[in-house]
Amino acid sequence: MESFYIVGGNKLEGEVEIDSAKNSLLPILAGSILIDGEIVIENVPKYSDVLAMCKILEHLGAKTKFIKGKFKNEDLYVDCRDISNCDVPNELSCKVRSSIFTLGSILGRKEIAKVAFPGGCDIGLRPIDIHISALKHLGCKIVDKNGYIYANASKKRSQDVMLSFPSVGATENVMMFAVLNDGETRIFNPAREPEIVDLQNFLNCAGADIKGAGSNVIVINGVKKLHSCTYRPISDRIEAGTFLIAGAMCGRELVLKNVISKHNQELISKLLKTTCKIEAYDDNIIIKGNGRPQSFGEVETAVYPGFPTDLQAQMFALASISEGYSLIIETLFESRYKHIGELIKMGCDIKFKNGVCIINGKEKIHGAEVDTPDLRGGASLVLAGLVAEGYTTVNNIQLIDRGYYKFEDKLSLLGADIKRIKYEKKVDNCN
Ligand code: EPZ
Repeated sequence: MESFYIVGGNKLEGEVEIDSAKNSLLPILAGSILIDGEIVIENVPKYSDVLAMCKILEHLGAKTKFIKGKFKNEDLYVDCRDISNCDVPNELSCKVRSSIFTLGSILGRKEIAKVAFPGGCDIGLRPIDIHISALKHLGCKIVDKNGYIYANASKKRSQDVMLSFPSVGATENVMMFAVLNDGETRIFNPAREPEIVDLQNFLNCAGADIKGAGSNVIVINGVKKLHSCTYRPISDRIEAGTFLIAGAMCGRELVLKNVISKHNQELISKLLKTTCKIEAYDDNIIIKGNGRPQSFGEVETAVYPGFPTDLQAQMFALASISEGYSLIIETLFESRYKHIGELIKMGCDIKFKNGVCIINGKEKIHGAEVDTPDLRGGASLVLAGLVAEGYTTVNNIQLIDRGYYKFEDKLSLLGADIKRIKYEKKVDNCN
């Protein structure tokens, strides 16, 4: 078990290069299964979720290896010419939500699949009914038994499919399933996140014919085969957002490199209300803290281009030390609030009433021993530790490693006092 040991109070300044998007890399790796060829994905950070997806691909018969590239991180070589297996066992599937994305691509390539129910952050029930009903609508025979999805696509057909909710994963699953189908499949009410556009661009780079990602209809014209390709994913707007929030909390002047500013418009408009200064250029953003932040007012999470749910937890850390009251409402995941209890241990003043969180910002919060509840909740606790009086130990940081690569190194380079330490959980009467 590992923890972060953080001594609060330092100001952050300098440059940080944002990594490739985790939520692009995971569907792109699933989409690789469709390609009877060799793929090079450039600038790939070793998120533990990426490593978990590599294990799934290898179980299916693919080869994966990190190779020297021309960017900060290595490139990831993936050879899917010998995909022979069609099953994803529970011990691999339970590690990541994105294992369910392989259902569409295995069915697209092999027409049969057996995939165990996915894992992922414990932020809600995370059902897969929208995935299943869309694939059934496209002619797949699907049964779920003993925690596995058994699927057969021998009678697959192309036609219009309407998603009952713009689910990111369901949109990606259907896109991938339709790529090798005959004819035209149109997805109505799809998710419009930038990572969906990235998946479209990756698959088109391998010879697919997909249009409309990012809009309210995605059109896939089936092709016979996909071919080898080299692709560089977009940068991670959630990692960028996390550093921007850190900048508003305790930044002097932070320069974020390798970002796509337009992907963080909602967040930037909220942060400007805290009176920090932000200059957003195409591929970099400069943020200057301005002493104790003012409250940003209220945040209600929504599907893209609304305020991202993946930055909700981090906004609690900012609100907790801002001047005034802030409101935060999570609308996508029914239990994405587990970080509140941990923040309260650090002296944060947070109330939860009828689905609305009211945060009364305080001049000072204090360090504590806290537990990472999930990936973004963990990031929130790290941000709080950066400004807390005294030291904070953030435990279970393997959950943070799922979506932040060398997080402590990046923060240390900016002036934070943070170290990764081994942690032996003391057995106590409470838990
Ligand atoms: C993706 O999860 C991301 N994960 C999540 O990021 C992100 O929070 C989420 O999209 C929303 O943006 C990856 O891309 C790997 P959804 P996903 O399907 O696909 C309900 C992070 O921190 N729903 O858009 O699982 C669901 O319960 C992670 O990086 C159904 O009801 O999200 C939720 O309430 C966390 N039935 C809502 O839709 C379904 O079949 C949004 O889920 C599917 C989803």
